[in-house]
Amino acid sequence: MTDTTDTTTPASTAVVTAATGPDMRALGRRLGGLLRAGDVLILSGPLGAGKTTLTQGIGEGLGVRGPVTSPTFVISRIHPSLVGGPDLVHVDAYRLGDAAEVDDLDLDTTLPDSVTIVEWGEGVAEELSDDRLEVAIDRASDDSRTVRLTGVGPRWAGVPLDAE
Ligand SMILES: Nc1ncnc2c1ncn2[C@@H]1O[C@H](COP(=O)(O)OP(=O)(O)OP(=O)(O)O)[C@@H](O)[C@H]1O
Ligand SMILES: [Mg+2]
Repeated sequence: MTDTTDTTTPASTAVVTAATGPDMRALGRRLGGLLRAGDVLILSGPLGAGKTTLTQGIGEGLGVRGPVTSPTFVISRIHPSLVGGPDLVHVDAYRLGDAAEVDDLDLDTTLPDSVTIVEWGEGVAEELSDDRLEVAIDRASDDSRTVRLTGVGPRWAGVPLDAE
């Protein structure tokens, strides 16, 4: 019998509960500390799930210039680093139709020196990078959120996504 369980490489997945908005922000701050230039995060979840709240925390963790807001007219915004680290490129793909429109944003030019976060990026932004952190947020009736983190590609192998 073959044991297919890989015990040498920790799975780069985690499921975290955020009971409140500030908890979600704190999760973002912790994630921000794990991130580095070239990272791509794809955020999914329904309207008001907490994608921007998480991104605000990540911006704090990275030490970039804020405020990180929910863009109404702007699709992509660059938040420069205040600490000599990667910039944050925050994209809201809600109004974008397809991957070709994501392509038109030329995110690949800022990608190597930045952390790129795409809200509503599921299904349209995967082509940005073979390595990416997929963040799926579910909203429960008590307003808590379940955040499912999945690291795709070698970049995320062994990264402690579930560390407290
Ligand atoms: N447990 C929680 N986690 C995150 N946000 C929460 C939580 N409980 C309440 N909230 C509130 O829900 C709202 C989430 O809004 P936010 O803009 O972050 O969502 P979003 O997913 O970016 O929405 P959109 O789809 O419009 O971009 C905020 O007002 C936040 O304070
Ligand atoms: Mg948002």
